[in-house]
Amino acid sequence: MLVSAKEMLTKAKAGHYAVGQFNINNLEWTKAILQTAQECNSPVILGVSEGAGKYMCGFKTVASMVKAMVEDLKITVPVALHLDHGSYEGAKACIEAGFSSIMFDGSHYPIDENVAKTTELVSICEEKGISIEAEVGAIGGEEDGVVGAGECADPDECKMIADLGVTMLAAGIGNIHGKYPANWAGLSFSTLAAVQEKTGAMPLVLHGGTGIPAEQIKKAIDLGVSKINVNTECQLAFAAATRGYVEAGKDLKGKGFDPRKLLAPGVEAIKATVKEKMELFGSVNKA
Ligand code: 13P
Repeated sequence: MLVSAKEMLTKAKAGHYAVGQFNINNLEWTKAILQTAQECNSPVILGVSEGAGKYMCGFKTVASMVKAMVEDLKITVPVALHLDHGSYEGAKACIEAGFSSIMFDGSHYPIDENVAKTTELVSICEEKGISIEAEVGAIGGEEDGVVGAGECADPDECKMIADLGVTMLAAGIGNIHGKYPANWAGLSFSTLAAVQEKTGAMPLVLHGGTGIPAEQIKKAIDLGVSKINVNTECQLAFAAATRGYVEAGKDLKGKGFDPRKLLAPGVEAIKATVKEKMELFGSVNKA
């Protein structure tokens, strides 16, 4: 069954590795990630943005699909189903629908309002045994139409939000969603170190995992990051493999148009991407 992300992230923080959050879009995506986690004997967090939830018919459909898939595929590694960048209303809807973890992204509210809403959600999550992620300092790039500026979080605000009892904290350290521009300055390790110093044992979350060079990922983990979110990279890998299949004319040969054949290269590409990330993050054999 689905688990809260608390235990897997506490272990990751203590063991100096990170658990990957991979965003899902449909059945194939979910199956590819779950099977890879099982093959790698790695804990995994399935991320669902509000947009992806809507695309998949709603949070109840998503929760039912994931729970049934974990059972049918005999997945034994820890799996958390997590709302990614949730609104206050979205967070409540996911708790209701049976998610085991939520993120409340109050980073666009004034800090007092972020504190008030996070406090309320923390108490609901505690009661239900659900993990909760909060965010300080907007992550740049575009996430479901919301464009952030790639801020660096204020370490004192991070401490204030961490002390509310959240399970994990996303702090902006110059990271952005989607592809990084050629002139990107890289992660701000001084910000990360300052946040880590103030927040102690709190597992820190790195959003925008796509395209961050391996050495920066490793350094971030050394400095206290224990959850890394990856979305765009799986999408790019899926699209490239699907393009290759169609451009090679394979959909026109025999039963190549069968969706089980047409989508297979894309699924394999997602699996390869997820495996590579699990190896880089150090979560292999940590289930
Ligand atoms: P990327 O799409 O850049 O990998 O970011 C994913 C993410 O942070 C989801 O919250």
